[in-house]
Amino acid sequence: MRILVTGGAGRVGRRLISALLERGDFVTSLDVAELPMEHPRLTRVRGSFDDTAAAQAMEGVDAVIHIGAYMSWVAADARRLHDANVTGTFVLLRAAAAAKVKRFVFASSGEVYPETAPQFQPITEDHPTAPTSIYGVTKLLGEEMVAHFARTTGIETVVLRFSHTQDASELLDQNSFFSGPRFYLRARIRQQTGFGNQAVVEALRPYDDGTEKLLISRGKDGTVFRMPITDTRDLVSGILLALDHPAAAGRTFNLGTEEAIRFDEAVAHLHAATGLPVVDVTLPIPAVNYVTSRRAAIETLGYAPRWTFAAMVADATAEKLGVRVESALEAP
Ligand SMILES: NC(=O)c1ccc[n+]([C@@H]2O[C@H](COP(=O)([O-])OP(=O)(O)OC[C@H]3O[C@@H](n4cnc5c(N)ncnc54)[C@H](O)[C@@H]3O)[C@@H](O)[C@H]2O)c1
Repeated sequence: MRILVTGGAGRVGRRLISALLERGDFVTSLDVAELPMEHPRLTRVRGSFDDTAAAQAMEGVDAVIHIGAYMSWVAADARRLHDANVTGTFVLLRAAAAAKVKRFVFASSGEVYPETAPQFQPITEDHPTAPTSIYGVTKLLGEEMVAHFARTTGIETVVLRFSHTQDASELLDQNSFFSGPRFYLRARIRQQTGFGNQAVVEALRPYDDGTEKLLISRGKDGTVFRMPITDTRDLVSGILLALDHPAAAGRTFNLGTEEAIRFDEAVAHLHAATGLPVVDVTLPIPAVNYVTSRRAAIETLGYAPRWTFAAMVADATAEKLGVRVESALEAP
């Protein structure tokens, strides 16, 4: 098969392309960013999600995995989010239908519920959708557009609502996009300053003495934060099932780890790995505290996520020390 992977230069895209090449597929990558990878079965199209680049990338393609998207929670980025995620998804669906592509797999997000404000837990695919961020809205609109093209063109579609997902190495990186502000005090202060969340900044600042520290976050009632953090390799294994499995067509699946890690436990693992001091802070906001069901993917597709948070930290530590190098889909 020839598979088009959009967002091929991103966190998930790179791992996915490696896995597809490893199993013998031909791959086209479409990304506005450079993909620093070469392979005889890999075609790289550098461009954004416009008609010209989409038509070029769609040549000879049997299936599309549309995981390219812009992620931001900054209010000023709303238009860019709409252009990349809503218009971009429309452009790709239209090009895929014109090219008579068989299957279109769409990367949505738990932000459509959103997972941070659940009405019931564990969050299943039939949980009501009411996103609280423009990013979440763009993913929900993308899902609607995917459903429309499935109804009107006959293209097979699969919607995957991804969990928060990291490369294991990001957990040890204070400057990484997600794990930095999630687990490191100074990165969190910078992020919350950027968001304009002054009350959170004021709660954190007394703990900042200019040196880096690990952060355990609690909500205003003292509840420690808890959420699933998925290893990119587990997400990629689920995407491959969504691409291949006959029963996936027309369905929506939550994809990610089954484990919801408490941040005090997570920080204990990070402390053991980094030796950094730990601060435990009660924030003037409700706790992030959710668990998401993966039952549908497990029972329908045979999905089997394997990476626990502890295994991710151990793997990242080993990689940092040069102890061993993981291949794309090796089990922990
Ligand atoms: N990582 C997560 O925690 C998470 C959680 C839920 C959903 N998702 C979704 O999963 C997908 C992959 O996420 P990721 O972590 O690999 O993100 P990423 O930011 O690492 O990669 C996204 C890629 O898309 C490309 N891109 C963005 N806008 C583009 C445009 N207009 N034209 C061409 N290329 C464009 C970027 O250059 C980037 O390489 C995204 O759709 C994201 O919304 C991610």
